[in-house]
Amino acid sequence: MRNNGGGHYNHELFWKCMKGGTATKPTGKLAAAIDSSFGSFDVFKSQFTDAGKNRFGSGWAWLVINADKKLMIGSTPNQDNPLMDVSDIKGTPLLCLDVWEHAYYLKYQNKRPDYINNWWNVVNWDFVSARLDS
Ligand SMILES: [Fe+2]
Repeated sequence: MRNNGGGHYNHELFWKCMKGGTATKPTGKLAAAIDSSFGSFDVFKSQFTDAGKNRFGSGWAWLVINADKKLMIGSTPNQDNPLMDVSDIKGTPLLCLDVWEHAYYLKYQNKRPDYINNWWNVVNWDFVSARLDS
């Protein structure tokens, strides 16, 4: 259940977090929440990138809103996610990034940082904003 249910949930969210075209920056309430939680969009982006780069082996990077309505960044191993009681980071996922090797190996081989840097170009900020609003 943990691996298959987690894998299903995580990928369903991951597909929706991306769209074609060139991504812009978050706006409105999401932009304000990111600024107040992390200082700036660039700091947020850097911390989220590090969460993905530094996850050893397979896993995910997350932006979540926690029970105190605070935005947090973290990562989980394998198919775990922040909704699980086993997770170090807990909250409702707003944005996720798959850093399993299968997500990038065909194009980027072992260059996970290059994959993450390019992934920022396809983030669907409208979807992430809608999750925050709901
Ligand atoms: Fe995956």
